[in-house]
Amino acid sequence: MRAMVCKRLDGPEHLELRDVPEPVVAAGHVIVRVKAVGLNFADTLITRGKYQFKPELPFSPGAEIAGVIECVGAGVPGWSAGQRVMAYVNWGGACEKVLVDARAVVAVPDAVPDVVAAGLSVTYGTAMHGLIERGRLAAGETVVVTGAAGGAGQAAIDIAKRLGARVIAVASSREKLEAAAARGADDGILFPGTDLKETVKAKTGGNGADIVYDCVGGEATEPLVRALAWRGRLLVVGFAAGEIPKIPLNLLLLKGAEISGVFWGEAVKRDPATHARSMEQVLGWVANDTLHPSQPTTFAMAQMSEALGLLERRAVHGKLVVTL
Ligand SMILES: NC(=O)c1ccc[n+]([C@@H]2O[C@H](COP(=O)([O-])OP(=O)(O)OC[C@H]3O[C@@H](n4cnc5c(N)ncnc54)[C@H](OP(=O)(O)O)[C@@H]3O)[C@@H](O)[C@H]2O)c1
Repeated sequence: MRAMVCKRLDGPEHLELRDVPEPVVAAGHVIVRVKAVGLNFADTLITRGKYQFKPELPFSPGAEIAGVIECVGAGVPGWSAGQRVMAYVNWGGACEKVLVDARAVVAVPDAVPDVVAAGLSVTYGTAMHGLIERGRLAAGETVVVTGAAGGAGQAAIDIAKRLGARVIAVASSREKLEAAAARGADDGILFPGTDLKETVKAKTGGNGADIVYDCVGGEATEPLVRALAWRGRLLVVGFAAGEIPKIPLNLLLLKGAEISGVFWGEAVKRDPATHARSMEQVLGWVANDTLHPSQPTTFAMAQMSEALGLLERRAVHGKLVVTL
């Protein structure tokens, strides 16, 4: 079968389209014929040996896939050949066929195209895990999202709105705030350039934010902790700014507040059943037209290096998906 193969850890431009042996089905697993592979910034890191997981060479990148079950191993009730599915596989997705642990497989409704399903796991999975499991978001609460025009931020806006929250987006340009508003954010704050604590307080009638979904870290985080409401929750999602903030703990004591780590990939590994239920819910919302992920830009498998190069140069708006 054809696969994009990483043979050396010197970046996505050196991926090669190769013939590799087909996987053999194993107990507890299914083989998925891949139709689409969602791309993420982490796929560029893994081809440079800079990701938190370092697979043995040679390997194929590609963390999230959608396709059709081709065959089912022993001890896998409930799945059969021909079913449309999606899965988060961490790496190894950029192949015509992938062996997938059956616990990672989620059924895709007819109304959801492969290219959309393939791009949901990481961003929407993180938003579901962060906002629901870690943040215990309740309808009517206010959620501040940093990096609101990025992939993680856009999904957080979608899910927070779907769950009945009021969303305040934080982004670094007017254009990005417009993108956040188009996704459904109720209000926006330009940062850098604005006093985050005072502005969030002012926009919440002095109450503060119930949840901060922080994708950026750096200088935004401490003023946003200061802007938390009583019993507010800061969700630590990422450090896109590159700087890991240090927060004085007295701020938490004074507000009865919490800081919660959001490590979605580890949560999926430890509790695949909860992740599967989350993704079923997201897919259901997409199928019944109440959640509208942006339409992805598609690439052929042979163009995967080019697509990952765009991600690496941060020249991307919306989701990139390789189709097979
Ligand atoms: N915890 C988890 O399980 C999990 C899961 C998925 C992603 N993440 C993390 O979440 C973060 C955001 O991911 P993403 O997919 O949304 O990334 P993205 O699409 O590249 O967006 C990142 C946003 O961060 C902001 N930013 C601030 N300083 C930046 C800098 N120096 N370089 C690049 N961006 C900068 C930008 O918004 P402004 O210009 O508006 O500030 C940008 O829109 C990443 O750190 C990622 O690793 C974590």
